[in-house]
Amino acid sequence: MKENAKKVVIIVPTYNERDNIKALIEKLQTQFETMPHRMHILVVDDHSPDGTAAIVRQCQTRYPNLHLMGGKKDGLGAAYIRGMRHALENIQADVVFEMDADFSHKPEDVPRLMSEIDAGADFVIGSRYVKGGSIPGNWGLLRRLNSFFGNMAARYIAGIYQIQDCTAGFRAIRTSLLCRIDFKRLRVQGYAFQVALLHAAVSAGARIKEIPVSFIDRKYGDSKLGLSDIIEFIFNVWWLRLQSSKTFIRFGLVGAMGVFVNLGFFTLFLTMGMNKFIASPFAIELSIISNFLFNNFWTFRQRKTKDRIRIKGLKFNLVSVLTLGVSYSTFVGLSFAFPNIAPQLHQLFGIIPGMLINYLLNSYWTFKHVEDRDSDADKLKINKHCDWKCSKREDDPQHLSIGDI
Ligand code: GDD
Ligand code: MN
Repeated sequence: MKENAKKVVIIVPTYNERDNIKALIEKLQTQFETMPHRMHILVVDDHSPDGTAAIVRQCQTRYPNLHLMGGKKDGLGAAYIRGMRHALENIQADVVFEMDADFSHKPEDVPRLMSEIDAGADFVIGSRYVKGGSIPGNWGLLRRLNSFFGNMAARYIAGIYQIQDCTAGFRAIRTSLLCRIDFKRLRVQGYAFQVALLHAAVSAGARIKEIPVSFIDRKYGDSKLGLSDIIEFIFNVWWLRLQSSKTFIRFGLVGAMGVFVNLGFFTLFLTMGMNKFIASPFAIELSIISNFLFNNFWTFRQRKTKDRIRIKGLKFNLVSVLTLGVSYSTFVGLSFAFPNIAPQLHQLFGIIPGMLINYLLNSYWTFKHVEDRDSDADKLKINKHCDWKCSKREDDPQHLSIGDI
């Protein structure tokens, strides 16, 4: 009966969890008995000096669904990435869980997270910050502030506005979603992984669901969160912000360069003795052409446009003529209104309305992004991105996404 059931791997990273791991494994196994899924546990232990791995090996004699992998201690994120890859490639998991070893996440909550996956979610978060969820009442001010600001930074700097608990470490994730994420681009080692993975999931259009959980403080052992994790976290949220504003930043740079091209040619033509009323449109046209080339091959390179380059070129020409008209009439108007100031200033103020119109029309018309998330070409590209051996794939219509400004 269980043959067709989903295969689920609970990934538990451990570092010095000698006093917790055995009890957690046993508690989880009891929980599994109530579940219809094919449940597994994968402990990712970074050669803990306290002998955590030996305890897991002992348990393995009793539980054939208990897996153990070791590795170098590179941080929580690195351990999860290794564990997820293993669960996908060697255990053929349909779903993976992230879970702490220290009982901060209750084994009794596993079925609740899993039932959201069964209901269609790709990414379920055991959330402390939705209604009904909680953090321990005895948390000191510093710990509360740390958690609060961490989440605020993830939401308002990294841009994951729609999620309340972005740093949560209790999650259920479909592996078909993991296959669509380029792990090489996450660039994180420590706790920042939680935010980086969530951000990538949102960008991939995952169906995300938060359900309330109560986070319990550990009784045995210590937290492994270190200063380097906090530093990486701060860099990571800004890095994510930069990534999602990339198109906007690039367009600004191309625009700024266009100003120099425009004024440079204008000055060149003037020194060649050309009449300023003729030099102006030529300089405008040259800057428009250089802007188009940079925008086409750099700024909007990632956009999937429906037109061929020929049609895009035609549209671009139309936009250019309009831009030229707008810039030139501004130039002429200003030249007559303020005849005593340098013509470069008239030309400069002509660029501004021209550039705005140029951006809007090119962004929303010439280079308009067409959503075809489920097309074969798209899937091929995703497969190429991900070097994990993803054999399973499901249809994942877009649900939530972080907009590209
Ligand atoms: N393999 C491995 N390598 N495991 C690690 C490492 C590492 O470098 N660092 C931590 N772990 C394991 C711990 O042994 C534990 O099982 C789990 O990862 C969580 O580590 P804790 O040190 O207990 O984390 P925490 O309680 O400070 O943080 C929890 O809450 C955060 C949000 O407030 C975790 O759930 C985090 O994931 C979460 O972001
Ligand atoms: Mn903990």
